[in-house]
Amino acid sequence: MIIDITLSFMIIDTKLIILYNKYDYYRIFICGKEIFMAVDIDWSNLGFGYVKTPYRYVAEYKKGKWSDGRMTTYEKIVIHESAGVLQYAQTAFEGLKAYTAKDGRVVTFRPDLNAERMNRSAARLEMPALPDGMFMEAVEKVVKANKEFIPPYGSGASLYLRPYLFGSSPVVGVKPASDYQFRLFATPVGPYFKGGVKPITLRVCDYDRAAPHGTGNIKAGLNYAMSLSAIVEAHALGFDENMYLDSATRTFVEETGGANFIFVTKDGTIVTPKSDSILPSVTRRSLCYVAENYLGMRVENRPVTFEEVRDFEECGVCGTAAVICPVGKVNDHGNEFYFPSGMYEMGPVIRQLYETLVGIQLGEIEAPDGWIHEIKLDEEENSGEEQTEEQAEENAQEE
Ligand code: PLP
Ligand code: COI
Repeated sequence: MIIDITLSFMIIDTKLIILYNKYDYYRIFICGKEIFMAVDIDWSNLGFGYVKTPYRYVAEYKKGKWSDGRMTTYEKIVIHESAGVLQYAQTAFEGLKAYTAKDGRVVTFRPDLNAERMNRSAARLEMPALPDGMFMEAVEKVVKANKEFIPPYGSGASLYLRPYLFGSSPVVGVKPASDYQFRLFATPVGPYFKGGVKPITLRVCDYDRAAPHGTGNIKAGLNYAMSLSAIVEAHALGFDENMYLDSATRTFVEETGGANFIFVTKDGTIVTPKSDSILPSVTRRSLCYVAENYLGMRVENRPVTFEEVRDFEECGVCGTAAVICPVGKVNDHGNEFYFPSGMYEMGPVIRQLYETLVGIQLGEIEAPDGWIHEIKLDEEENSGEEQTEEQAEENAQEE
């Protein structure tokens, strides 16, 4: 649908404001209350990037206590120049998705595991745990407030939720900040890899992602900062992602920059790498359960040497963003090998896992107890303060 409204901001009188901003939606307010919002998005052609949605959640930790969370429309953050997050990367995040299920319900997939992992990341980075229930409150409120941005069933797209926690007060000596913010924004997304579920190519990377006893097993922003050169280099060389090996011996397979590995042996066993320096993926843990309990497959979670990778029948990478993406080819410093399923399609076992997991997520296949968390949209209306940049700065100065 193309909406031909070219005004970026129009005040008809003080009571009626029509806002059509440069983003992909417009909203109508009467007497300060939002009465209508519509979006103009081609769901089936969405990539994996930032699309602004109107509402986000914020809670602040000060003087040893969390404030109540609130909703805001302002997508920028005013923080101190010496904030812990800016100086010493004191931040962790999560990623989960809201979907429209087959029966029209809006659901999230195992959000309790993301909440749990967020608190583990916080503990490792000396940040405060969230109060009980705050993570889920943020998920619920942001999904409900941005309900127009939840892609329809069958579009292949979803509403990606990005919770994050960071040190906001000044530090100069190396120490934890004393104040923090927890925020959650939503953005509609399509597939993480261009081409959706077409096989991707990997190269074995000379950079390390995570040290033994380091931070590889939490979702710290710093793990991704240090992977940026590696991914830029991989893309420049024509590869989709990096395969990281263990940094101590460079003999075991760890993971990619944003997903865990899943391999299939010639006899159909599922093998996933075990290591203390990889992120315990919600998707991988769910796939292993599905393989064993829905598909009757054998599953092994054990150290996997790089040497044995070329003997696997199929390989995929899995994560919230990637779901499961098949791997077609691996390049180890010029020595290339292809998996038998090749560069054109998913191998049959990876396909079965993919279809079963997505079927569970979309309510087409019955889920194990507690995996699907429904968000009832009609229980709450949009609410959130409208904030300008000036107001945000004033608030920051008052603190
Ligand atoms: N590994 C890394 C490094 C990731 O960033 C992610 C994404 O969250 C994953 C694995 C997959 O984890 P999950 O399935 O919980 O999204
Ligand atoms: C996710 O799968 O949610 C991730 O966080 C991976 C990536 C976008 C960093």
